[in-house]
Amino acid sequence: MGEESSIAVLTSGGDSPGMNACIRSVTRTALYAGRRVFGVSDGYEGLLKGRFKRLESRDVGGIIDRGGTILGTSRSEEFLEPENRKRAYGHLKDKGVGGLVVIGGNGSAAGAHAIALETKLNVVAAPASIDNDVFGTDNAVGFDTAVNTALDAVDKLRQTADSHHRIFVVEVMGRKSGAIALEVALAGGAEAALVPEVPESAELPPLAERLTFNLKHTRKKSAIVICAEGAGRAEPIAEVLEALTGVECRATVLGHLQRGGAPTSYDRNLAARLGWAAVNAILEGKSDALVGLVSNAIRLTPLEKVVAHEHRFNHQEYALLGILSL
Ligand code: F6P
Repeated sequence: MGEESSIAVLTSGGDSPGMNACIRSVTRTALYAGRRVFGVSDGYEGLLKGRFKRLESRDVGGIIDRGGTILGTSRSEEFLEPENRKRAYGHLKDKGVGGLVVIGGNGSAAGAHAIALETKLNVVAAPASIDNDVFGTDNAVGFDTAVNTALDAVDKLRQTADSHHRIFVVEVMGRKSGAIALEVALAGGAEAALVPEVPESAELPPLAERLTFNLKHTRKKSAIVICAEGAGRAEPIAEVLEALTGVECRATVLGHLQRGGAPTSYDRNLAARLGWAAVNAILEGKSDALVGLVSNAIRLTPLEKVVAHEHRFNHQEYALLGILSL
């Protein structure tokens, strides 16, 4: 990247709490290094349309505690076409942009990889997704907040479940990932987590047998079953469990509320570290990489590897849930 080049930043895919803290970190780190900064509106959609705005330090003030993304985001089908991407490259050139930080999940990393391959830009991705399914980082920005938001709901549901001696099936987000479900189940003392990474976890007859025994023959007052959306839907699962156990079941879908809210301190500071690392990687001339946090240290992983691999599911933690939920 040239000495004078500007740095652009965009957020892409599903928003996640902490994206704003990451935008702030990218902006201020780049300004500190003497670079001009452009924020791109609405992710790759805005890149195609050339929707850039200059970001100064004050533009990213007062956003550290806000969920969502001040830049806006999108899931752009159009950007998947190489022909369309050429338009975006023209806009980046016009603005004198030499480095691009892409904040988002797997789809966003794939887009960043394409840009890095097709241009001379230094492109670095910073993982932000509530699903925590990005390879190359222990945690993606927003995951911790989403888990705590869902956990708060589960704690509340437990109170009414106990009072009525009911089973609650609580559906959490994650797309194909069971990461939110597992974390929430373990932290919430849930009786089970149905996750796509463990297909047998969604077999309902053995689960129903265990729940029936516990509810009818021990002093357990209620049961909470956390269901990852990738493993099944809460409503039909609750119907089957009610039929098999003879215990009243209710279904709750937490949905998009898991994407909002003030980011936790963990997510704010992860975002700060990753944004800083992304800009520094660009200034050092690196490209086509994802900045991640692995065992509490910043690590760069080639985007080719990121898009080809899946984030590892924590089977040890899943086994622990099985023991503690007895
Ligand atoms: O990737 C984040 C995520 O919230 C997933 O957990 C969920 O499956 C999906 O996005 C929902 O997408 P949309 O916001 O387009 O409904």
